This record gives sequence, structure tokens and C-alpha cells, in this order.
Amino acid sequence: MATFSSSFLDQIRRRLSLADVIGRYATVQKRGSNLLACCPFHKEKTPSFYIYEEDGHYHCYGCKAHGDVFAFLMEKKGYTFPEVVEELAGQAGLQIPRDGESDRKDNLAKEQRELFHEIMEQAAKFYEKQLLSNRGSQAKRYIDNRGITPKTQKIFRLGYAPRGNVLSEHLQGLTYKIDDLKTLGLVKESRDRPGEHYDNFRDRLIFPIWDNRGKVIAFGGRILGAGEPKYLNSPETPLYHKGHIVYGYHLAREYKAKEAPVICSEGYMDVIALHQGGFKGAVAPLGTAITESQVRLLWCLHKEPIICLDGDSAGEKAAFRALEIALPVLQAGHSLRFVSLPPGEDPDTLIQAGKGSLLQNLYETASPLVEKLWNTTIAGVSLDTPEQKAALRKKLFGFLGKIRDGSVRTGYEFDINARMRAHLRQLSADKYNQERGHSVKRHFQSSFARQASAKATALYSINVNDLQTRILFACILNHPGILSDVEHEFMEINFENSAFMTLREEIMQYLFDGLKLDKVSLNNHLYGKGLRDTVESICNASTYTHARFAQPTENQDVVLENWRRMWHFCQGKSALEQDLLVVRDQLGLDPTTENFSKLKRLQEEIALLKN
Ligand code: UTP
Ligand code: MN
Repeated sequence: MATFSSSFLDQIRRRLSLADVIGRYATVQKRGSNLLACCPFHKEKTPSFYIYEEDGHYHCYGCKAHGDVFAFLMEKKGYTFPEVVEELAGQAGLQIPRDGESDRKDNLAKEQRELFHEIMEQAAKFYEKQLLSNRGSQAKRYIDNRGITPKTQKIFRLGYAPRGNVLSEHLQGLTYKIDDLKTLGLVKESRDRPGEHYDNFRDRLIFPIWDNRGKVIAFGGRILGAGEPKYLNSPETPLYHKGHIVYGYHLAREYKAKEAPVICSEGYMDVIALHQGGFKGAVAPLGTAITESQVRLLWCLHKEPIICLDGDSAGEKAAFRALEIALPVLQAGHSLRFVSLPPGEDPDTLIQAGKGSLLQNLYETASPLVEKLWNTTIAGVSLDTPEQKAALRKKLFGFLGKIRDGSVRTGYEFDINARMRAHLRQLSADKYNQERGHSVKRHFQSSFARQASAKATALYSINVNDLQTRILFACILNHPGILSDVEHEFMEINFENSAFMTLREEIMQYLFDGLKLDKVSLNNHLYGKGLRDTVESICNASTYTHARFAQPTENQDVVLENWRRMWHFCQGKSALEQDLLVVRDQLGLDPTTENFSKLKRLQEEIALLKN
């Protein structure tokens, strides 16, 4: 891949005016000493997009879009970085230098960088060796006890930092300078005795941190056993910018082609345990909230990385923060998924307890971002009044407003609206059922939720033919009062004709809107929805000749009993079994001795036939 020296990129920045480049996509106005525009990344009527020509970046106070001239074009045109550089270099009248052509100043930086990499590599090697020496025996025992195999220890290059100043003595012995060690965060200068240095990591288990290509750039050091701080990490250095690094990235990248899920966990031990447990796409941010740049890194590994943080409230909060960070940068095809672990667990404890298959299941069924957003936002929210409903809507749409990509945002609006409708319908259904004295909550799923659910088809388990369909519908249309008793069964029927599907949906909506359950009002409602023809194709003599009980003049109890019988018949049950099932249903609602003996008699009869 092409690489560009920072001095070359600076030259481009200096030669081109940021306002000019942006001016091709938005009208730039001058207000006082400020340059501003209506943000080209989100819809707005008054400008909140500021261009800071002097230091070469833009910032939108509305949608928080932020970056330099390169970021702008990447974002706006969907170009890759090299494509942007090529285009802008052309505009600036600059030739892209070939490798080795860069100026001297840059060479120096390159040498320095190489030196720094070399020092960090030497330090890593030293720590690794110490772990396997006598001095490291306690640390070695500690990680062995935590179930990390020697093979995994080697892959993650675990090490041990001894007490004292052993590392700095070793590195100075290799002629590296103390100032460089300080710059790299390996030693610290004593506050009391300036000029004196001591090792940053002492008596700690060492986790090397790599850059994206696998070069050691920092360390994390865990205390052996209890104590504070649990982890000590390298400070920010010229090599290490923790917000731009995810731990384990280069290892996960090796497995990218193998389609391993990419799992973003909480820290060192989780990544290592996951890796050892076969989840080779495990990575983690380094003790801080996930940054936008880390989200982008995850997307380089997988289109839908899974956020899997600890199963406690802090983990939940961090997961939602990751969601909020990702919203503005969501793109077609790129998103996050979320897994909630059982309380008190993290991937490490689960793997060590041999529960890898539980994790596997959780990962396979990880929630899409939109679902996480929805579930988290509605948790514990009451929706009894229009004001409460409006407040929820406002909150949800506040989140959606952060999504910069127009088509993704539209998709979210559609999805969230549908969830909102389905949810409100469910609430009024629950309320309705409560009012009618049903103690059992009905788990009605709206057609939307059904489609969204992977297990959707399981709901339709009963196939019926056209005549059966018409009979079942006719009963309900003529006696809507039976609906609350057969609603579950009714929802399980798979109608081949889509007109019947629509009809059922409208009937159920009517039911859950809590409207008056009588024939005339239901019919009027359905006619209003343009379903008169469908209704008339059902409620007519050709249906009633086959099923007298479906007629409007029939007694409702008889209709109910026959509806159930019909339903069982459709499932291939014999007449006796139908009787039995119907009686069993009746017994549930009306547990009289009479019904009970009826049931017993039928059971005996069926048993007799089977022997
Ligand atoms: P955890 O406390 O969950 O640690 O912190 P862990 O990785 O599970 O380690 P064990 O299992 O207790 O040994 C998660 C991550 O947060 C960062 C580290 O990156 C850690 O892996 N962290 C935590 C720190 O940087 N400093 C701390 O003091 C604690
Ligand atoms: Mn842990």
C-alpha cells in the first residue's frame, strides 16, 4: 500500500485552501473572522459547520463532523485515503514522491521511529525472558493458574517486569539513551531527585501492546494478585496513541479471511482467553471508552464487530457509549452488534469455566445496533400519557439525528417508527387483556416484530386450505367476541393468500386498539381499510353450507367450541382428539367436575382405541 510522508501531506495542506475544497460542496460564508457553512454532512438550515483555515480543520457543532481536508473528501466522496491524496496532490500541483524520495527531515523522523521500535522490541524480549527465568516464577505461576497455556503466553508475548531498575540497566547496557527510554514511557524521572530514573513497570505481569502491523509500541502491566492500580499502562508516546489502537488487532487481522467473528471485549485478559478459546477475532480498547477511530479499526476487520463487555452496569454503560460513538459514522453495510453477558461474568470467566459454547451462541444471536438502541432507550420508560410517548420519540429521534449517512438514517427512522408502533400496540393489548380480567399476559407479536425476529416462521405452524380459512374467518367476523379466546391459535395459522394475512393483521390491530368487539364495528373498520371484498368472499352461503356454526345467527359458545374443533381438525386430529382438546380448553376456563369427568371419559375412550 502507498505510504505518504507527513511532510508531503503537510505540503498539500499548506498549498490548498480548506475553504476552497469545502466550497465545492457547500456555500461558505464569512461571518466576522469566521468561515462557516451549512454542514455538508447533515441537513440544517442555519450554519453550524466551521472552517478553521489556519490550522486546517473543520468542525460541525451540530453533527460533530470533524477533520482535515483529507478526512473531508474521504467522508464526502467515500474515497480511500490514497485516492484522496492523489486527487488533492493533483490539485496542489504536486507530484506524489516515490519511495525513498522524501526529504531529509522526514528521513530523520523515520530513523527515530525505527530506533523507538527497536527499543520497544528489546524491552519486550527482555520481559519475555524474565518471565521464564527464576525471577519470573511467581508471575509464571500466576498466569498458569489463570489457565493461560504456554502456547497462548507465547502468542501474546507475555512477560515479567522484575523489581528494581533491571530493564533500564539492561537497555542502557545496549547503549540506548535514558532520554529515549523516558520518551517511550519505560522509565520515569524521580520527582524528588531530578536526573534519577526508575523503571516504570516493576514486579508486574507484562502485556505488550502492538500497533496494527504487529510492532510493539507500549505495555500494560498487571499487578500480581490484589492491589492498586491493577493495571499500569504506558503513557501516550510518539509511538502510542491509545485511542487509535485496539489490543490484539494484528492477531485478529490474521484471521480475518477465516470469517471469525470480531469481538470487542473489555481488556487484556478477555482477549487472551477468547483467543485461547478459539475466538481468534478478539480485540479490546485499552481501558478507555471506545473511540470513533477504534470503531473504524474494527470495521477494517469485520463489517459487524460484536461489542461484548462485562455483564455489569458499567459494562452496559460502556456498550451504549460505543453505540453512541458509532452512530455518526454508520455506513451502508457497516454496523456494530451487541452481546450482554450474564451478570458478573466476562469472556475470560466464561471461557475458563468451559462455557465457550454459551459464548458462541451469544455471538451468533448478537443484537443489531438498532435493537440495542431501542431496548436500552425504552427500558423502564412508562408510556401512559401522550407526553411520555412524545418524550420517548424525541429521545429516540435525537439519537437518529446523529447518524450522518442519509440512507442509513432513513432506514433507522423507518425501523424505529415500526418498533414504536408495535410496542404501543403491545402495551394497549396488555392493558386491554388486563381489563378483561385475563391474568396471563398475551405475548402477541406484531407482524413487524415477527418479521424482525429470526424465529419468525415458528409462529406459523398451522397450514389450512381455502375452505378451512374461510370457515375460521367467518366465525371470527360474525362473532368477534371469540377472538380473545382463540387469539393465540389464530396467530399461528399460515394463510397462503396474502389477502387473508392482511385481513388477520387488521383484525388483530382492531383487537389491540381495544375497540368494541362487535360484528358491526369490526366490519366497518375492515371496510374502511378496503377489505370489503375479502370479507364478503368469506361471509357467504358457500361457506355456511359447509359450516352452519359459522353463521351470524349461531350462539357464541357453540361458535367458539366449533372454531377450536376446526382448528384441531386442521392439525390432523381425529374427531375424538378434537373433543378431548376442546374439553381440555373448556376445563381451563371452567374447571367444573362435569367438565373434568367429560375429559376423563374421552381420555379413556382414546386409550381404548389405541390399544
Ligand atoms: P478489568 O478490570 O476488567 O481487567 O479491566 P481484566 O482485563 O478483566 O483483568 P483481570 O481478569 O482482572 O486480570 C479491563 C481493562 O481495563 C484496563 C485494562 O486494559 C484492562 O484489561 N484497566 C483496568 C486499566 O488500564 N487499568 C486498571 O487499573 C484497570
Ligand atoms: Mn477479568
